[in-house]
Amino acid sequence: MDADEVLTTTRAVRRRLDPTRPVPLEVIRECIDVALQAPAGSNLPRTRFVVVRDPALRAGLADLYADVYEGTYRASEGYIGRVETDEPGAARTQERSARSADALANALHEVDTIVITCLEGARLDGASAMASASLLGGVLPATWSFMLAARARGLGTCWTTMHLAREREAAELLGIPFDRVQQVCLTPVAWTTGERFGRARRPAVDDVLHLDGWQDDLPGVPDVRGLAAS
Ligand SMILES: Cc1cc2nc3c(=O)[nH]c(=O)nc-3n(C[C@H](O)[C@H](O)[C@H](O)COP(=O)(O)O)c2cc1C
Repeated sequence: MDADEVLTTTRAVRRRLDPTRPVPLEVIRECIDVALQAPAGSNLPRTRFVVVRDPALRAGLADLYADVYEGTYRASEGYIGRVETDEPGAARTQERSARSADALANALHEVDTIVITCLEGARLDGASAMASASLLGGVLPATWSFMLAARARGLGTCWTTMHLAREREAAELLGIPFDRVQQVCLTPVAWTTGERFGRARRPAVDDVLHLDGWQDDLPGVPDVRGLAAS
């Protein structure tokens, strides 16, 4: 696979995670090694990878995830299956994503490995825009690089944040020092069933490209300023 193929076919894999084939720890280590080449603010790598293989710990994380998913998220305005659109193609895509997300909530405990990426040395509660962009921005590229490296090796991943609603309990389960380590992303890691993954439906370049300043007539997305502040 060339770089563009990896970049355009690294999908959120949820229903095609093979629960029967163990993932060698060495392959996870390779993906982390690749991920560590990502940029980081002040060139200080603050990303930590908590690799969870123990079945009881995985089950504990899966329970937290499913509780938030079923108990809060599925009934919320933000539920992936509730996005309103007049475009039939987009509605179908959203519906497929919703069924896929539902399936992951039911099957996370079966997945061979769960990786949680963390920000070490800070919590962003109440942080300034600059601090949060700089610190979180140090973890996000490494997290995505990990997923790209996984894809290049035939592994499927799915960026999730659902369990963060119960982050403290996850921290207690895994012995993560909550006061100075912030969890950022939880991803299943498993061999995929089949290797064919394609490009996904996304906005056109002209819908997102602002040339020489901001153009306000491009398609917008729901404004969630209130939600983001809460
Ligand atoms: C910040 C972030 C949070 C996400 N949280 C979840 C999540 O909690 N659960 C889930 O199933 N998918 C989650 N996703 C995955 C998105 O739903 C997925 O990237 C999107 O549907 C596009 O998938 P595709 O690339 O396969 O088209 C998250 C993605 C991002 C970037």
